[in-house]
Amino acid sequence: MKAPRHLLCRLADLPDGGSRELRCPIDGGGLIALRRGRRVWLYRNQCPHLGLELDWVQDQFLDHSGQFIQCATHGALFEIDTGLCVAGPCVHQRLIPVPCSLRGDQVLLERPPPAPLKDPSARP
Ligand code: FES
Repeated sequence: MKAPRHLLCRLADLPDGGSRELRCPIDGGGLIALRRGRRVWLYRNQCPHLGLELDWVQDQFLDHSGQFIQCATHGALFEIDTGLCVAGPCVHQRLIPVPCSLRGDQVLLERPPPAPLKDPSARP
């Protein structure tokens, strides 16, 4: 049996070319939502470096160029479409992706997202 999808928001609630924080309807955790036209990416709002939230300012997750997700604490940069860290103290690590889809103008959570990292510094 398929798990029910959960409505996260409407596409129009996400700024085109921008970012916004959402709450996971299953566990209440923070999610980063990014939109480019009709493409949407979701990640846990948790930096793989120290496990902290990435933003200091509400809904501001992008660097000055708007091309990368940036962690506000130590400046790590992540690719929007893969979550891969390309610069900073956690280079080659990734944000935790959260499966989502678009149905019409609805942004849906496809299934329960992977759990947040408990202690990123304990990883091998
Ligand atoms: S906590 Fe994100 S780069 Fe250090």
